[in-house]
Amino acid sequence: MNSFHIKFINEAHNIAEKKFGTTFPNPVVGCVIAKNGKFISKGVTNKSGRPHAEEVAIKKAGKKAKGATMYVTLEPCFHNSPEGSCTDQILRSGIKEIFISIVDPDPRTNNKSINKLKHNKIKVYKGINKNRTFSVNKFFFESLKNKKPYTKVKMAISHDEKIAWSDYKSKWISNVKSREYAHKIRFCSQAILTTAKTIAKDNPRFTVRLNGKIIKHVPIIVIDKDLKISLDSKILKDIHKKRIIIFTSRQNNKFIKLKQIGCEVIHLKKTKNKYFNLKNIFNIIYKLKISDILVEAGGTFLSNLIKNNLVNELHIFKASFNIGQEGKPLLLNKKLYEIKKKLIEKRKFHDNYYYKYFINK
Ligand SMILES: NC(=O)c1ccc[n+]([C@@H]2O[C@H](COP(=O)([O-])OP(=O)(O)OC[C@H]3O[C@@H](n4cnc5c(N)ncnc54)[C@H](OP(=O)(O)O)[C@@H]3O)[C@@H](O)[C@H]2O)c1
Repeated sequence: MNSFHIKFINEAHNIAEKKFGTTFPNPVVGCVIAKNGKFISKGVTNKSGRPHAEEVAIKKAGKKAKGATMYVTLEPCFHNSPEGSCTDQILRSGIKEIFISIVDPDPRTNNKSINKLKHNKIKVYKGINKNRTFSVNKFFFESLKNKKPYTKVKMAISHDEKIAWSDYKSKWISNVKSREYAHKIRFCSQAILTTAKTIAKDNPRFTVRLNGKIIKHVPIIVIDKDLKISLDSKILKDIHKKRIIIFTSRQNNKFIKLKQIGCEVIHLKKTKNKYFNLKNIFNIIYKLKISDILVEAGGTFLSNLIKNNLVNELHIFKASFNIGQEGKPLLLNKKLYEIKKKLIEKRKFHDNYYYKYFINK
């Protein structure tokens, strides 16, 4: 393969990776158009998923697309968009060959675009650098395969694996640098999943902040079976700017009030043990088109998620001090080392260590 083909497909990946976190619920895709080794145009999936990268690059290229080569990090879509599918736009543009990193697993497209392009005498090459598309858009591939949201859990722990003090006193465990990085993880998540208990104890804002400024409002999902959430909670401020979904078993006045102020309140029945079936909740979340979540809750909830096999990634920020035996544990009845997992990243933020694990299923 010519070296410029590698250069352009790499460039398509580079521009896509920089935009990860902005295109939910869609995966982030990069596209470059070039002719005889000379760059013509590029495009990335736009905010919230539309227009697609190919559409942006084709529009920028205009007539220059005729006879050109397209490099794209995911199979172009087959299903309709306002301007027609990306496949039809590619055919109309006069592009003569296309390099595709990975086939789209979405059944609406899966190999259909590749077949249509080939049928229309476009040369199609696939499989170049497919791991790059897969790893940046892991949530997309995994959630489609498992029909449930890809789930990351973020936790700050003390050296002795505690997540809070016994009296729930409000105090940071991780340092400033760790917390800055934690905001990047939040930015790259489609929604935050938490419990009414964590909201009651911490009263977090759950905004994404950079240098103290709010840069993104991520939807927040709250598990609150007895509807204990205070109407004064910080997450309910600026409610018009964000989506709040609350799962509860109650249908009382607070239920009505929360709906009136703009929350989506989903009524669920408790199981025999008086809790919710978490797998059922995850199915509902997926049907709401949320396919990537970041859990920010305590050890009780994390233990329940692990027990139900619902965690894909664990992000741990470990401080150098101990909280002591009375502190709230990361996991009930278990230590971190007992969870089957694979360390995939380790960083140091001053006196904190950051560990990213894939959970083995
Ligand atoms: N260090 C960190 O990174 C970090 C992050 C977040 C929170 N925290 C801390 O964690 C502490 C709270 O931890 P925690 O373990 O006590 O509480 P938690 O894990 O946040 O929440 C536990 C509660 O969630 C509800 N719940 C869990 N599973 C459920 C299910 N299947 N169905 C329905 N409800 C379910 C129950 O609430 P009800 O029975 O009350 O309805 C349960 O008591 C706080 O102090 C907070 O500061 C630390």
